[in-house]
Amino acid sequence: MIILNKFYVTTPIYYPSGRFHIGTAYTTILADSMKRYHMLKGEDCYMLTGTDEHGQKIEEKAKEQGKTPQEYVDKMAEDAKKLWKTMKIDYNDFIRTTEKRHEEVVQKIFDKFMEQGDIYKGEYEGWYCVPCESYFTETQLVEGKCPDCGREVKLMKEEAYFFNMKKYADKLLKYYEEHPDFIKPDFRKNEMINNFIKPGLEDLCVTRTSFDWGIKVLKDPKHVVYVWLDALTNYITALGYGSDDDNLFKKYWPADLQIVGKDIARFHLIYWPIFLMALDLPLPKTILVHNWVTMKDGKMSKSKGNVIYPEDLVEKYGLDSVRYFLLREMPTSQDAIFSPESFIERYNFDLCNDLSNLLNRTVSMVNKYFEGQVPKYNGTPNDVDKDLEEFTVKQIDLFDEKWNKYEIANSIQEIWTLISRTNKYIDETMPWALAKEEEKEKLSSVMYHLIENLRKIAILIKPFMSDTADNILRQIGITDEKLINFETLKPYDKLQNIKVIEKGEPIFMRLNAEEEVEYIKNLMKK
Ligand code: ME8
Ligand code: MG
Repeated sequence: MIILNKFYVTTPIYYPSGRFHIGTAYTTILADSMKRYHMLKGEDCYMLTGTDEHGQKIEEKAKEQGKTPQEYVDKMAEDAKKLWKTMKIDYNDFIRTTEKRHEEVVQKIFDKFMEQGDIYKGEYEGWYCVPCESYFTETQLVEGKCPDCGREVKLMKEEAYFFNMKKYADKLLKYYEEHPDFIKPDFRKNEMINNFIKPGLEDLCVTRTSFDWGIKVLKDPKHVVYVWLDALTNYITALGYGSDDDNLFKKYWPADLQIVGKDIARFHLIYWPIFLMALDLPLPKTILVHNWVTMKDGKMSKSKGNVIYPEDLVEKYGLDSVRYFLLREMPTSQDAIFSPESFIERYNFDLCNDLSNLLNRTVSMVNKYFEGQVPKYNGTPNDVDKDLEEFTVKQIDLFDEKWNKYEIANSIQEIWTLISRTNKYIDETMPWALAKEEEKEKLSSVMYHLIENLRKIAILIKPFMSDTADNILRQIGITDEKLINFETLKPYDKLQNIKVIEKGEPIFMRLNAEEEVEYIKNLMKK
């Protein structure tokens, strides 16, 4: 029996406190692309996303709109699902923290922690603003007053429950040390150690009494569970952990990859592993921390008028150009910058000039010289063809190596290097001259290699540009699933009896840069 590798990938669960922007979409596109990559490797994949629906912020948002919190989150969760449909996100489950399957298990987990002595009752002390119903630390105050409304604050104490984080600090450090793949990229690990663990981990306050919209502590129902303890456990409650049906949990836990943005790294790299240790569960294999999508003038914000919504771009430019841009522009250790100019530039150069033209030139030549029938592979390639083959195999390896190191932008760049090299191969071999000189054999080999490289390129981009990949494969006449996976990626002798479509269809058409930049700028002001 062949046992398939499994791959469980998660996104954070998003706060439904406003419309999702392009930054939120980035995390989800990345997770989806990871899943699709592992599917092409023939693995048994499972992807989880969802919404984080409790807490004071949500309660207030609902009030603003004259809705109950439940009505408010129901609508927002529907909107989120609609957006992911537009972005063709292939998730297997969408967890909402207000679902019973989640709430019941969170209560059980909380009880267990209390019984074990990991959670203890203590006193929370802080500066409290009565009208805002909020606690602040000394440093959050503005001139000694409430940072939100500017009114007097008073030092208050209230009964609260704490999680004993200190107890696990050494164990966590040891785990980091012994599992070099646990945190990616590496520098995030040092940030955690130097900024939070070495200075002394503080116990975490895990309950609130200042608002209601949360999961009640069973044994002390005036307390609700702190949103982060509630939210982090979604990754296992969604799989049925702690319920009667925990088959998915047994099959997929520990997660292979959990993707989070840098602002929530601390919760996932410190508290989450500690909660898992306290539950005596294995830790995820890798937690990948990504940077932000920002604008030239800093972080996206509505007041600056520099927010861009994914649906607007998708509607005008198509899904794959948006997915391509986001993944291609996000460096491993810096923030990405979205600008209308760079978006249009990538569209015109990378997608139209490089990729779309390679397909068009090839399909039209195969039609012109061979009536659409792709010639047979010549088992003994000449030097020029051999050079292309070797280059291609090397690029495939580079792509794979970088993708698996989660250097996604760099790995995608390796594909575009291959696209350029393949375009150059046309200029080198000059098929139009070969046709005139009646060099039939050479011409056949060139056409075969072009089609093969397009097949390889389509498979390589399929994880993140699935529609475009399918479109390319359809145009070059490849529909057999056996030829669309990573196993058949490298060899050159796989194609037989392939016919390209009669008239090629451009997959990306050149845009008028000035007009489109203006168009996007207006979207951002809307
Ligand atoms: O933090 N660029 O939810 P959230 C890239 N509910 N990523 C961005 C971004 C940007 N401009 N803005 C936000 C929460 N994100 C919690 C998570 S998980 C148990 C609970 C990313 O909706 C951000 O980094 O505020 C984070 O990974 C995700 O969107 C969710 O943010
Ligand atoms: Mg946030």
